[in-house]
Amino acid sequence: MRMVDLIMKKRDGRALSEEEIQFFIEGYTKGEIPDYQASAMAMAIYFQDMTDQERADLTMAMVHSGDTIDLSAIEGVKVDKHSTGGVGDTTTLVLAPLVASVGVPVAKMSGRGLGHTGGTIDKLESVAGFHVEISNDEFVKLVNRDKVAVIGQSGNLTPADKKLYALRDVTGTVDSISLIASSIMSKKIAAGADAIVLDVKTGAGAFMKTQEEAKELAHAMVKIGNRVGRQTMAVISDMSQPLGYAVGNALEVKEAIDTLKGHGPADLTELVLTLGSQMVVLGGKAASLTEARENLQEVIANGQALEKFRQFLKNQGGDPSVVDRPEKLPEAPFKIQLPAKKNGVVSEIIANEIGVAAMLLGAGRASKEDKIDLSVGLVLHKKVGDKVMQGDSLLTIHSSSEDVEEVMAKLYQSITISDNAEKPTLIYDSVT
Ligand code: URA
Ligand code: CA
Repeated sequence: MRMVDLIMKKRDGRALSEEEIQFFIEGYTKGEIPDYQASAMAMAIYFQDMTDQERADLTMAMVHSGDTIDLSAIEGVKVDKHSTGGVGDTTTLVLAPLVASVGVPVAKMSGRGLGHTGGTIDKLESVAGFHVEISNDEFVKLVNRDKVAVIGQSGNLTPADKKLYALRDVTGTVDSISLIASSIMSKKIAAGADAIVLDVKTGAGAFMKTQEEAKELAHAMVKIGNRVGRQTMAVISDMSQPLGYAVGNALEVKEAIDTLKGHGPADLTELVLTLGSQMVVLGGKAASLTEARENLQEVIANGQALEKFRQFLKNQGGDPSVVDRPEKLPEAPFKIQLPAKKNGVVSEIIANEIGVAAMLLGAGRASKEDKIDLSVGLVLHKKVGDKVMQGDSLLTIHSSSEDVEEVMAKLYQSITISDNAEKPTLIYDSVT
């Protein structure tokens, strides 16, 4: 087989076979196929697209390009949740203990990554002592006993995706549904998921800016999952404004605790119940979404979900008393209000701009070497559709420095007050 023939085949709009896709991915991973040929192939895929079968074959070729995690020692259906990324997305912190407390095993492997705030691991590390450096045996033991554990990323997962993603980034080929869907799904499958719940975000703070694009990506990923034997479903949710109130690491842990206590923000609570119900049904712990939702509401109301969070923190060296005394979490020295400049209704809170403001405060990493400040971030007091009077605080800035002029300017540019506005829809659709 010659790579040039495969490039021409795709260039001319024909479908590649499983063997041809494997040849491309294996050769590229090993360095036998050069970047210029892989770039040409990515561009051909961008223009000619792929069939559902090609997308599934590409996904599995990338899964087998490196290590895969074997979770078979863990009892039950391992359901993983994936979000395509947003601002102040606290759902994983809530979902892990919540679905674990109704018996769905949560065996989470997580990384740090770049972004407006840290990743799930960074957030959890704002609890004193909490760590994810546990052995594989300990990880399996904890999930079997208590249904939830988080371990740091290890091994060489989907090297083909890493290499191809870096190449796409510099060749104008990121925005291809086929390439995005196979990239995301390959990572979930390599990490050992039996079933997958996807939260595809749409809006200013999301990768997919329009509902149409989000829906297309959701359908593509669901089809791949189901074709390769992993039951998959997706929810399309709003990310035009940040989710919940808190954007920051320790601040989001506190928000997660509030939500597990039953008094979290309405949007975060609703999204968690929607995604959680799907996870519980896929995990075989309820027969219907209605039953699953009732069970989740019950463990929030009776304190079992919160108790599960305490146990999870303690199991991994964390101080469980933060659940009852969130003031023990890292706290920024300066809390500065952002007063509304006029009366009206909040009509826009541009999520990605709010994320950038949180990053300016030090809540996230721009490059791998950056250190993040777990205490800083933003807590919104108003969301889109809320009335405000001039002088009301729109949000509190939690900062390590008194000088927040640049952040304030950025925030004022990102929040609009108009005569009227409606609350945006939170969940647009679900795809199975
Ligand atoms: N996120 C991914 O993991 N892969 C893509 O291709 C795009 C976004
Ligand atoms: Ca939040």
